[in-house]
Amino acid sequence: MKTKIINTPDLLKAASRKKEVTNFCVANSKHIEDLRKISGGKNYYIRTYGCQANVRDEETMRAMLEDAGYKLAEDVEKADVIIINTCAVRENAEDKVYGEIGNLKRLRRANKDLVLAICGCMVEQPEILGRLMKTFPEVNLFFGTHEIAQLLDLIYEVITTKERIVSIESKQGEVVEFVPDCRNNHYKAYVNIIYGCNKFCTYCIVPYTRGKERSRHFQDILNECQRLIDSGYQEITLLGQNVNAYGKDLDEGKDFADLMEAVAKLGIPRLRFTTSHPWDFSSKMIDVIAKYPNIMKFIHLPVQSGNDEILRRMGRRYTREQYLNLVKEMREKIPGLSLSTDIIVGFPNETEEQFQDTCSLVDIVQYEAAFTFIYSPRRGTPAAKMEDNVSKETKVRRFQELVKHLEKHIEEYSESMVGKTFPVLVDGVSKTDENMLSGYTEENKLVHFKGDISLVGTIVSVKINESHTYSLIGEIVNG
Ligand code: SAH
Ligand code: SF4
Ligand code: F3S
Repeated sequence: MKTKIINTPDLLKAASRKKEVTNFCVANSKHIEDLRKISGGKNYYIRTYGCQANVRDEETMRAMLEDAGYKLAEDVEKADVIIINTCAVRENAEDKVYGEIGNLKRLRRANKDLVLAICGCMVEQPEILGRLMKTFPEVNLFFGTHEIAQLLDLIYEVITTKERIVSIESKQGEVVEFVPDCRNNHYKAYVNIIYGCNKFCTYCIVPYTRGKERSRHFQDILNECQRLIDSGYQEITLLGQNVNAYGKDLDEGKDFADLMEAVAKLGIPRLRFTTSHPWDFSSKMIDVIAKYPNIMKFIHLPVQSGNDEILRRMGRRYTREQYLNLVKEMREKIPGLSLSTDIIVGFPNETEEQFQDTCSLVDIVQYEAAFTFIYSPRRGTPAAKMEDNVSKETKVRRFQELVKHLEKHIEEYSESMVGKTFPVLVDGVSKTDENMLSGYTEENKLVHFKGDISLVGTIVSVKINESHTYSLIGEIVNG
């Protein structure tokens, strides 16, 4: 099989943040009509890893494929186009992908016409792309996060030339609006408001895989939200690696607070957003969250570390004190606020004392939820070049110790909910017990309860009877 290289990734280009005007465009496929002629009876399958940005990209790709006449495959064995949408944020995210492709390559061997594609953040790294191309000759399409709009043309090219195609351009990126829409969920929706990241935290690969921070036009976002409301959506989550930076790159005179307020006023029952960088979080944003009852009182505010020296070496641009002051203002202004966070343990050369600062910060903030990670070096990032004298065992021990600090308050918080009644957006059959339904409270707490499947997608009142650390058990009550 011949390989046609259109573009390959380049970390230097990926890291560049030159002042250039963002290109706004509407996705447009040259070969959509050609594909419609040959897609009859053909199916696609997409497997997504990683964050909500990837989940939303999956939906965009589904919309394009369905517009071209492909149908969602009942299972991967029956698919004519298979796309593995990857994540590169930590090593274990990448390992899962190697396992998955290992399983799928036999399908391509059995069906020479199969399009087996890898996209997403992993292929944006030159060395990983090289390894994937070598290890999996069965994969006949590689495309990057900036090539999603070209998906149909790339598939058409693979089918007609029978060549292996590589199209991954490292660039700052555009803002592409997609017309056909497809959603995995019919009452909860993600809406992109800003793409990319300019923060370059020293441990993180995302700014290299996703391009510069670039905001969508204010009105395009509002139009999308209005369409969702008109079709009965109950919850919208505004998405970005750093939603608080919204609008800074535009000259529309609007910031994230203005955007939240405008979406809240459209009347969506539940408005959420993720992720917030503490550095860009303004008092104006806190005031808007406090003011509108339909903006959920839940903020994911990654801290990463509680020690100033580590924060400085991570390039986080805030100090422990600034973070704690922000939390204080949030807790004062927003009654009933639920705070969650991300923390990395075992950053290069993290001392025991520095780690204890993180534990003490956790004890002060008393998070209602948290994600904890062991530091994973990402090739090409500054932290990967730092020397590291912390052993694997120490990292694991610190991880476990930190989780104990976090769980203490999370458990107390769960217990404090017992006996009270909360509105819950019903998600579906519980993953742990098929006789129960599950859903989330406004505070983003998972609740299991008995109820009829017809309630999925509605908001019901649930009285909490029993608490576990990460979930609650309750019963539906009237009113
Ligand atoms: N943009 C978001 C999060 C992106 S990645 C933010 O800044 O909050 C999600 C989380 O993964 C990060 O918050 C961080 O805690 C974790 N993470 C990122 N890079 C990592 C690495 N190299 N090793 C371990 N955890 C990492
Ligand atoms: Fe990564 Fe930092 Fe950007 Fe978040 S803000 S995506 S952690 S570089
Ligand atoms: Fe992973 Fe890329 Fe998201 S690295 S966390 S899928 S932006």
